[in-house]
Formats: sequence, structure tokens, C-alpha cells
Amino acid sequence: MRLQGKVAVITGSAQGIGKSIAETFASEGANIVISDINAEAALKTAEEIKIKYNVETMSVVCNVAKLEECETLIKAALDKFSKIDILTNNAGITKDNLVLAMTEAQWDAVIAVNLKGVFNCIKAASRSMLKARQGRIINIASVAGQMGNAGQINYSATKGGVIAMTKTCAREFASRNILVNAIAPGFIRTAMTDKLTQEQKKTISSTIPLARLGEASDIAKAALFFASDDSSYITGHVLAVNGGMYM
Ligand SMILES: NC(=O)c1ccc[n+]([C@@H]2O[C@H](COP(=O)([O-])OP(=O)(O)OC[C@H]3O[C@@H](n4cnc5c(N)ncnc54)[C@H](O)[C@@H]3O)[C@@H](O)[C@H]2O)c1
Repeated sequence: MRLQGKVAVITGSAQGIGKSIAETFASEGANIVISDINAEAALKTAEEIKIKYNVETMSVVCNVAKLEECETLIKAALDKFSKIDILTNNAGITKDNLVLAMTEAQWDAVIAVNLKGVFNCIKAASRSMLKARQGRIINIASVAGQMGNAGQINYSATKGGVIAMTKTCAREFASRNILVNAIAPGFIRTAMTDKLTQEQKKTISSTIPLARLGEASDIAKAALFFASDDSSYITGHVLAVNGGMYM
């Protein structure tokens, strides 16, 4: 058990990549805080994981775009578990459009969740980690933040920003043994990519050396590496999990 007795908070973990990370951490003995804007799904996921992996779980409704809600999430986690060992900033949304067609509302919404949301959660969770002189922060970025993606000016800007924040926090927190790393997924099969047509998926697959979309579990395994003792001399790293799409 690589995370026995650890406490992990995972944002946007009611479904998709976040849920897979929560399951993987729980399967290694971690107690899990599921947080999401979708209250019903978050509760269901937390119950499911508790029963399946025999760990403690809780679900907290939290819109990461609101600092106050992130502070409430962290307080609830600390009230129940007295510590947070691992924060995974996973909540993210897309509102795609070409530059000229993108509305201010589409820009603002994606910045608020994907960029400010990561800042909000790190700000809220870091105090207890700094006091404990240990912690792991794992940010879910994207290949779009590394190579850009037509139609995603808002999304790619946030994910590039997440990579920059990862490196800044890695430097700022290193002396307190808080390791901060990012994962940059390529195209992963979840509700987010279900929006793509078969034709689009085929075109995307043709640009990926491994010639297929990835699975949520591929990202979860990388997150487990960053959460575990196996990565104790790694900080400020961006791990590409993209089938070779961007090297
Ligand atoms: N699927 C991919 O191909 C892919 C690729 C690269 C990066 N990512 C990133 O991985 C992360 C997870 O994506 P996914 O594919 O699992 O998406 P998903 O849509 O399946 O799940 C996202 C979850 O986040 C929650 N959420 C949305 N807005 C929120 C908010 N304001 N506060 C809290 N929770 C919120 C949703 O309710 C949902 O449960 C995102 O950051 C995404 O940008 C995904």
C-alpha cells in the first residue's frame, strides 16, 4: 500500500480523470475527499469508493472558481481528517471557439475554473501543508498548454498557466518539503472528449504515435507516482501522458 493513511483532496472528482485518481489513491490505502460542483455525483462517488476500497471518504460540494468555497472545502477536510497530504487540482472545463468567435463569457468562465481555481485551492490548502512541513500538490494541465490547440485559446492559456504555477509553487514550497508537479494529459476518453465526433477522434488519433486516445487510468497512474514516495526527489516537473502526441 503506497498511500496507507494518507489524506487526498481531489477537485472535480465526481467523474472522469478525477474519479479515476480518487479510486487509484484509495486502492493504495488513502482516505479520500471527493469534491465537485455536482453534489449528487460527488456523494455517489464518495460512497462507492468507501465501500469498494474500505477507506474513509467524504464528499464536499465546491466550485473551485470561488476562493471562499475552496477554503470551506479545505476546512471540512481538516475537520474530518486533521491533515491533507495530497491535493490534486483536477477540476477543469472547456468552452471552445476560434479566437474571433470566442465570447468574453467563454474566456472568463474557463479562466475562472481552470486557472483561478488552481490558485484558490493551492492558497487554501498550503497553510496546513506548510505547517506540517510536508505535502504533495498535483496539478492536471494539458498537452494544449504545451503545444497550443486551435479553437482553445482560453483553455490552452489556462493550462500553460497551470504549468507556470506548478513551477512557481515548486520553488516557493520546496524548503518545506511540499512537492508540486503537473501532469499534461493528451486526449483522454472522458465526458470532456465524448463531445468530439468519431471523425474528430480519428483525425486526432492519426496525430498520436500510439494511435489512440488514452484512458483516465493512465493519468491516475501518473498521479499515484507523484503522490507516492517513489517521486520524493521530483518537483516542478511536467509529466506528459499523451501517447507521444507532443514530445
Ligand atoms: N479528457 C481529456 O482529454 C483531458 C486532456 C487534458 C487535460 N484534461 C484535464 O483533466 C481534468 C479532468 O477532465 P475530465 O476529462 O475528467 O473532465 P470531466 O468533464 O469528465 O470531469 C470534470 C469534473 O470537474 C467538475 N467540475 C467542473 N467545473 C467545476 C468547478 N467549477 N468546480 C469543481 N468541479 C468542477 C465536473 O462536475 C466533473 O465532475 C481537467 O482539468 C481537464 O482539463 C482532460
